[in-house]
Amino acid sequence: MSIVDETKALTKSAMQAAMAKAVALAPDNWMRGGEPDPLIRSQHGHIGKPVSRLDGPLKVAGAAPFAAEFAMDGMVYAALAYSTIAKGRITSLDIAEAEAAPGVVLVMTHRNAPRMQPPPLFLTVEKASGGDKVPVMQDDRIYWNGQPIAVLLAETQEQADYAKSLVGVTYEVNDALTSFAEARVRGTAPAHFMGQPLQNNIGDADKALAAAPYKVDATYTTPRHNHNPIELHAVTLAWQDGTLHINDAQQAVAHSAWTLAQVFGIAEEQIVITSPYVGGGFGSKTLWQHHILAAAAARLAGRPVRLVLSREGVYRVVGGRSLTEQRVALGADAEGRLTALIHSGATAKTPHNAMPEPFILATRSAYRSDNIRLDVQQVELDMLGNTFMRAPGEAVGTFALECAMDELAEVLGIDPVELRIRNEPEKDPTTGLPFSSRQIAEAWRAGAERFGWQRRNPRPGATRDGEWLVGIGCATATYPYYRMPGGAARLTLTRGGHATVDVAVHEMGMGTATVQTQVAAERLGLPMENVSFNYGDSRLPGVILAGGSQQTAAIGASVIAAYNTLVEELLRLAGNDSPLAGLKSEEVGSRNAGLCKLDEPERYETYDSILGRAQRDEVSVEAAPPNPSEMMHWSMHSHGAMFCEARVNAITGETRVSRFLGSFDCGRILNPKTAASQFRGGIIMGLGLALMEETQFDERSGRVMNPSLAEYHMPVHMDVPEIEVMWTDIPDPHTPMGARGVGEIGITGTGAAVANAVYNATGKRVRDLPITLEKLL
Ligand code: MOS
Repeated sequence: MSIVDETKALTKSAMQAAMAKAVALAPDNWMRGGEPDPLIRSQHGHIGKPVSRLDGPLKVAGAAPFAAEFAMDGMVYAALAYSTIAKGRITSLDIAEAEAAPGVVLVMTHRNAPRMQPPPLFLTVEKASGGDKVPVMQDDRIYWNGQPIAVLLAETQEQADYAKSLVGVTYEVNDALTSFAEARVRGTAPAHFMGQPLQNNIGDADKALAAAPYKVDATYTTPRHNHNPIELHAVTLAWQDGTLHINDAQQAVAHSAWTLAQVFGIAEEQIVITSPYVGGGFGSKTLWQHHILAAAAARLAGRPVRLVLSREGVYRVVGGRSLTEQRVALGADAEGRLTALIHSGATAKTPHNAMPEPFILATRSAYRSDNIRLDVQQVELDMLGNTFMRAPGEAVGTFALECAMDELAEVLGIDPVELRIRNEPEKDPTTGLPFSSRQIAEAWRAGAERFGWQRRNPRPGATRDGEWLVGIGCATATYPYYRMPGGAARLTLTRGGHATVDVAVHEMGMGTATVQTQVAAERLGLPMENVSFNYGDSRLPGVILAGGSQQTAAIGASVIAAYNTLVEELLRLAGNDSPLAGLKSEEVGSRNAGLCKLDEPERYETYDSILGRAQRDEVSVEAAPPNPSEMMHWSMHSHGAMFCEARVNAITGETRVSRFLGSFDCGRILNPKTAASQFRGGIIMGLGLALMEETQFDERSGRVMNPSLAEYHMPVHMDVPEIEVMWTDIPDPHTPMGARGVGEIGITGTGAAVANAVYNATGKRVRDLPITLEKLL
């Protein structure tokens, strides 16, 4: 860095620090969320109803088209060939046979690929969504084992797949760094996440630990995980008059349109991404090489292209969760109050991405302690860029922290639920900010009661049912409330009282379209049938990620902004002849297809009447919400208490989870049916994290050795017990609709709840995930 750059950077960080302090100290009503969303007081109507998914019938009938199901005229099919070395150069490429194979239309390699810029990295700039930033097929260099080296286009998928088998390649192999242990010996570096250091230091945790009368100090390890949404990553795309149209499986349509525009050096408007239905994303459906390769090959061939990654292809091209080694050391006094909290360790990323697994995030706000030291160190390996995967950081971080809390409870002889409640902080322990709403003690008490926690025998290995050892365990779940900048929405209201909401967001199976229709209907005082919610199209307003469990809040804030603008516009149109004459927009709300004075509902006029007198068929407004300053003013998190009953076979060592309960505190629940499904889905993914999921990465070659659902194990129906979920339903006064995110919290705490139940059943403490049977024998 030059002196000028350094000065600039210092000035910027000093300004950011000053800004953060000013926002923290500012009065509540300066913040978005300072005044509660009027909708949180509404007790009737659409919000809170278990409405079934509006897209359910279409999906059941097979009439909801996914990215790989769109057909385009003259479309060809793509296959990818992958490198078999981790680092080096391609020295020869023989494609003559592939080119001559039946049906082959194009073989694209670095020799004939169009010139393209590397994609900007996801979450490093506002609209970026690239998983890694290596140049895509621009030269002979290999960065990871599995990197695409050729694209084969043919008239059928089978012909493309066959042609791929005919590509001949030789390499010059360079020394690759693929061993985590070796990289750690060479040295680690402090990790940063989204521009912030992953280090916190409060008091003197090492000294306090040394002096603590009760302590635990242990190392926990978690393996690599690969993404396995049921819907494979796919694009069906075509260039038409210089514009690229993509039917995609995407959780960031607007981001990815912008990112592809940077890659091809064209205007953002020249990339149109639609993604009406997505079969699961979990952090993986951002922008990866297959988008760029399919678009480049389509341009070169002059034909529309469908590229569906095979299951193996998803493992080779789409990053997953990186591995971690975590130390958690806790010191406590005789009453169980934490005096020292250390959570540190290392993870691996690559030189070409920006995603160290941030496993200390949940620990920052978890427990009261005067002495806290948090530190994530990273190494860089020659591998596929790892990425975000459901609750990145929290999923594996809570495994370590919440196992350690269970171990501390035993050392102290204090009940694990009681220990957690006793260490509840009054304010955020690392930022000092007040919590926006934190009712976790209530979630613990209600969950413990429902689960029958008081029947637990604290003595490990004491409960046996035939050859099965039975135990129960618990853990805290938590995930932050986020609302990222970039929101915007358009609201169109017609004279007959039909509203359309347009916003570039995503339905990946969470129920977004259904829930947002409910919310818009409630806000506008309309029946749900009178509201259309349009999403999944990069041409719509807003740059909103379906990630970070923030989509509901981001849409909510955008629709609030559009609604406020609409009300102002309607009041203007209503004029002096209306019962609403003279009212300010903040005095007005919606009911029964019209506007009324909030505290005098009889002052009311219908939308139809207002627009009729104004001789307007419709009114359409677009607005963006204020920046998400609420996140710097309050400490905002979803919370949960997880309870697990596990049965471990004393002879075979196999573990069966027999009961699970999640008791959540996530603000107001907008739709109990779709929210319960999100909670359960997260918990099921957590059961996989606890007991099965593990990417077999060959440290010698850097190759993923189990790239298939036959060898990479995930829970199936027989592995999943009845999962009970419940919630406090206490609105957060500072969020849109009083709601906080529910998409990721289910996977947090689950790993530890299972491990703690297994310990209670067997007396064996497994600190290395997944808990497979050989670790219990
Ligand atoms: Mo998620 S890992 O924010 O899709």
